[in-house]
Amino acid sequence: MTAKAKQIETDVLVIGSGAAGLSLALHLADDYRISLISKGILRESSTLYAQGGVAAVLADDDSVESHINDTLNAGAGLCDPEVVRFTVEHAAENIRWLLDQGIRFTTEDETNHFHLTREGGHSHRRILHATDATGRVIETSLEERVRAHPNITIYENHIAIDLITSGKLGFPENRCLGAYILDRQMDTVRVFRAPRVVLATGGASKVYLYTSNPDTSTGDGIAMAWRAGCRVANMEFNQFHPTCLYHPHAKSFLITEAVRGEGGILRLPDGSRFMPQFDERAELAPRDIVARAIDHEMKRLGVECVYLDISHKPAAFIKEHFPTIYRRCLDFGYDMTKEPLPVVPAAHYTCGGVMTDLHGATDIAGLYAIGETAFTGLHGANRMASNSLLECLVFAQSASQHIRQTHLSQMKHIDIPEWDTSRVTDSDEEVVVSHNWEELRHFMWDYVGIVRTNKRLQRAARRAQLLLGEIDEYYGNFRVTNDLLELRNLTLVADLIIRSAISRKESRGLHYTLDYPEPDTSHPPKNTILQPESYSVETGSLSANRA
Ligand code: FAD
Ligand code: SIN
Repeated sequence: MTAKAKQIETDVLVIGSGAAGLSLALHLADDYRISLISKGILRESSTLYAQGGVAAVLADDDSVESHINDTLNAGAGLCDPEVVRFTVEHAAENIRWLLDQGIRFTTEDETNHFHLTREGGHSHRRILHATDATGRVIETSLEERVRAHPNITIYENHIAIDLITSGKLGFPENRCLGAYILDRQMDTVRVFRAPRVVLATGGASKVYLYTSNPDTSTGDGIAMAWRAGCRVANMEFNQFHPTCLYHPHAKSFLITEAVRGEGGILRLPDGSRFMPQFDERAELAPRDIVARAIDHEMKRLGVECVYLDISHKPAAFIKEHFPTIYRRCLDFGYDMTKEPLPVVPAAHYTCGGVMTDLHGATDIAGLYAIGETAFTGLHGANRMASNSLLECLVFAQSASQHIRQTHLSQMKHIDIPEWDTSRVTDSDEEVVVSHNWEELRHFMWDYVGIVRTNKRLQRAARRAQLLLGEIDEYYGNFRVTNDLLELRNLTLVADLIIRSAISRKESRGLHYTLDYPEPDTSHPPKNTILQPESYSVETGSLSANRA
């Protein structure tokens, strides 16, 4: 062991600073000391880039039952009805909480009522938004509050490496004690000690070559929880957003579904409309259907993109509703008020994750998972648009209530060892990391993407195993860096995705395989639950398997 560096002690350690982490920190900060960890600058997160909005029942002609039914329908038989009801019923009070934090949503000119937009799968207008920059408004407003709170200590450019649990240190009672965290600027690893640790680390869409997500979405929370001994569920359900801008320099810039909600039409290169042939809801069918239809047409015609056209709407309407997208597309040479935009699908959302209960509590006492990193049972086999920011808010609230209600001691009698660097050296072959990073994301796109087959999944499984072995060896020999940690996590998450996909012998929601193109109706729909100890796959009902 190396010499003891000063360990940081706190009441609640929050890892991740998107909508989930910031909300939870604010719910607790008046009464607890919070350490808030962010691997980049505080605001860099998927939340910052969210465009469409937050779903909540506010219109007179809408109802909680309707939001519940739409969510269940999109989830293709795999949503947990109790969780769906819990989330939808808590939507309005969480919107009020956002308003209390100073967040302002777009309103109708004449009435000053909220302007509610529509997105795929929603039978009513129920998406609150701040023009087309909802996430930016939420993230930056919450950031301002967090920065101003005296009980919240912010650690930017700090990346959590692994959780510390009493079980792994040989104690009979298994509790989460904290985490090892790399200060990226100082290049040192510190122990952060806390009786409650909250994973709010977002999704894992960077596992795919093309994604709408920022670089932070590398599945770190899922990988850390798995290594610590938590179960993960439904990792095969990766959502591909149908419409990201197709441009070599656009880095898969998202064109919000609200463009289709406000009348945008998908067209083939010859200008013809194709969605009505795939689904009666046409452009407003759930995302899995639209993304698969686009993928089908691109492969059938051998074209590199399709087109999203809203140019039939008045230019003033487009500029007012989609100012960010309008300006960004102009930067790339497209005027959406006059011409269709070239679009392609890209990985967008991780429906699976760390299994939790209604309070965000995981299999390990003291460890919570909230937001995209969690698997609550809300989304089932396909997340409905704008339900994820809602899930972040509702579960940040319920986890914070649970933390208040459960007393956990600091377990100060347990001596936590420092991070051991005595047997590692600086890497002399960084190329291993960059090469494996590229390889992983390529084969995941090609073999584990929108359309899967047994053969492709088996190929992917062999490659993932090879990479896991190489990375393990590298990890054991060289000093940790941000890139190495992210690669290690992404490869583990890729392996979990592949194993889950192989075990699902049917097509359902976001998991579509040519070998089993229909849902299996011989038994009730089952979740895919992965167990860390034996690395076995179990299927079954969640209520029977939950912590
Ligand atoms: P994130 O917002 O991704 O935050 C994760 C945080 O964890 C980041 O701060 C990151 O730095 C930190 N982190 C990760 N790993 C570590 C580590 N090891 N150590 C320390 N810190 C770490 N959903 C909707 O409901 N409505 C929308 O309109 C919508 N639009 C979207 C548009 C885009 C372009 C994208 C990418 C997503 C969109 N989504 C939308 C999905 C939604 O934005 C996300 O699901 C949600 O923001 C996730 O929030 P989060 O707090 O769980 O994670
Ligand atoms: C979008 O604006 O299209 C994204 C909405 C979401 O992912 O929920």
